[in-house]
Amino acid sequence: MAPNLVLFANLLFLSFAPRSHSIRLIDIVVPSAVLLGQDAMLECRYDLENDGLYSLKWYKGNEEIFRYIPEEEFLSDRMKSFNLPGVNILVEKSNDHQILLQNVDFDSTGKYRCEIVAEGSFQTITNVGQMNVVKLPAEDPIITGGLAHYAVGDLVKVNCTSRKSLPAANLTWYINGELSDKNFLQNYPIIEDEESGLQTIIIGLEFKVRQKHLKTGGLKIKCTATLAAVYWRSDERSAEAAAIKSTHNHSERDTQQHMSSSSKNVNDWMSNRGSIVFPSCIIKMTITTILLTAKFQLYL
Ligand SMILES: *[C@@H]1O[C@H](CO)[C@@H](O)[C@H](O)[C@H]1NC(C)=O
Ligand SMILES: *[C@@H]1O[C@H](CO)[C@@H](O)[C@H](O)[C@H]1NC(C)=O
Ligand SMILES: *[C@@H]1O[C@H](CO)[C@@H](O)[C@H](O)[C@H]1NC(C)=O
Repeated sequence: MAPNLVLFANLLFLSFAPRSHSIRLIDIVVPSAVLLGQDAMLECRYDLENDGLYSLKWYKGNEEIFRYIPEEEFLSDRMKSFNLPGVNILVEKSNDHQILLQNVDFDSTGKYRCEIVAEGSFQTITNVGQMNVVKLPAEDPIITGGLAHYAVGDLVKVNCTSRKSLPAANLTWYINGELSDKNFLQNYPIIEDEESGLQTIIIGLEFKVRQKHLKTGGLKIKCTATLAAVYWRSDERSAEAAAIKSTHNHSERDTQQHMSSSSKNVNDWMSNRGSIVFPSCIIKMTITTILLTAKFQLYL
């Protein structure tokens, strides 16, 4: 009941409100990210109230790319497009509210402005929106490096790579589902392909394994690549915690040995994208060890 009353009150108010000659630009809809090679619809939403439309123009930067002037004598003059590099307007799909840019490329990236002039008052209204053309990465992000087993004190040293996109993807690292500490990240300069201009980004993750990382018996690291609002992919790796922690010496020297002796494992791991399947006997053994340790401590 209440919303109806409010609506009714508004209608009453509107019908008695003095009519003014003022146009309002409701919204400009420019897609912030468009995939390379796709079409893009740009919209200009406005309310002329009780005035007429004198002209509607679109600009890219400072250059006019489209005009709509309904009062022009000849039909062919009423709607005109002016093509620029990266701006190919399909006039048949364009009108006084929208323009269709065909087959966008990196030159299409830029600021698009819609300008409306009212007939009676010559009141002018303008608004602008940024459009970015993006190229998705050639492949999903990839985690490289790392071992199949980790114990407390070991050094995790891995890279996440997202290849050939524009702009470079945003890479985010997670450790056991939680956003990684910023101090663990290694940033490398973005690699730009000379020919295509496409960008490859690598972010390293480096940290010492602590007890809390192995709480659930294993270590999971994940890297996600995001690009604007159009792309989201991830790669994930799991590693088992070392079975018998108490016999492990946590010194640096030992960590080094562990790393170098496991270099074969790096390849195993890489060829095993996804997760590693451990024989069930090892898992059982781990559980038994933990239970025994817990009991032992209890009686102490
Ligand atoms: C990570 O990538 C950087 C830059 O290419 C390289 O120098 C480094 O050795 C890589 N680290 C690992 C663990 O693969
Ligand atoms: C990366 O993330 C930042 C911060 O959230 C954002 O401003 C930027 O647009 C993103 N870049 C890409 C390519 O998605
Ligand atoms: C670990 O190894 C270092 C260097 O070999 C040694 O000095 C230390 O006593 C060892 N610690 C344990 C707990 O075995």
